[in-house]
Amino acid sequence: MDEKFMLEEISKLKKEKNIKIFAHNYQNHEVQQVADYIGDSFYLSKLSKEIDCETVIFCGVKFMAETTKILSPQKKVILPVEEALCPMAHMITSQDIIEFKKHHPDFKVVAYVNTTTDVKAYADVCVTSSTAIKIINSLEEKNILFVPDMNLGSYISKKIKDKNIISWNGYCNVHDKVKKEEIINIKNKYPEVPILVHPECREEVVNLADFVGSTSEIIEYAGKLDKKKIIIGTETGVLHVLRKLNPDKKFDLLSPSLICINMKKTTLQDVYNAATGKGGLDIEIEENLRLKALNSIEEMIRLAR
Ligand code: 13P
Ligand code: SF4
Repeated sequence: MDEKFMLEEISKLKKEKNIKIFAHNYQNHEVQQVADYIGDSFYLSKLSKEIDCETVIFCGVKFMAETTKILSPQKKVILPVEEALCPMAHMITSQDIIEFKKHHPDFKVVAYVNTTTDVKAYADVCVTSSTAIKIINSLEEKNILFVPDMNLGSYISKKIKDKNIISWNGYCNVHDKVKKEEIINIKNKYPEVPILVHPECREEVVNLADFVGSTSEIIEYAGKLDKKKIIIGTETGVLHVLRKLNPDKKFDLLSPSLICINMKKTTLQDVYNAATGKGGLDIEIEENLRLKALNSIEEMIRLAR
């Protein structure tokens, strides 16, 4: 379908049906251009409650759209592509948490927001990459099980020395592919160029970076840096935002492997189909499960303040 036609129709439908479009920083440029809000997972979670609208079209992966539905059940929440899943979110199940708690009743379970609703329902609190350190620091308990990302878990453990943090063995199959040799090669080639990475990268990569943060933290930090060239160690979608905000700076990716095929599944056509009501997944969550998962998400928002 013609792009200009879809852009005009989406804009009309947004007004007629009181739709807001949320897009994660990793979305394709064509999707970002129709979004009302673009950001990292914490920003978009918080917005879910704050924004007054009838429908949210959530352009991201399923756990993100589910988080919006959990926080704002009266809204219709549509994920444009049902198959847009985060593989890491499925590396732990609620049964794993139940089993762990049985044997370790003195542990607090902290779940990365990249988890299923089922897992959130059994976790004590959720965190995002931008809020994890603050939230875990504020917990009274010393013993923490962090699920499911072992790389983010190891980054947090290094930052928080006075807690006993055990990490699950999940990982992001995009960030975990970045190799130590790649960052060493870039550092040797461009010693003056700062390298900004996401904490889902391996510890050996994170240790060599100049800055570590969530997608929005990377965007904010890069904007403030007085440098003409910056290397980015997270999914390629952030380059759209960075280049738009900083036309005078040059951004390159740390590794060609930094492409999340799930984030790239959503096209403008899918957003158009979702807006017309002819496509996408209308997120539904059973009420008891939603209420259980809501506790850990609300706790995240409260402790991140
Ligand atoms: P952010 O919270 O940094 O947006 O990260 C989400 C994510 O899926 C990273 O891979
Ligand atoms: Fe999941 Fe990794 Fe894609 Fe983020 S980049 S959505 S963690 S697979």
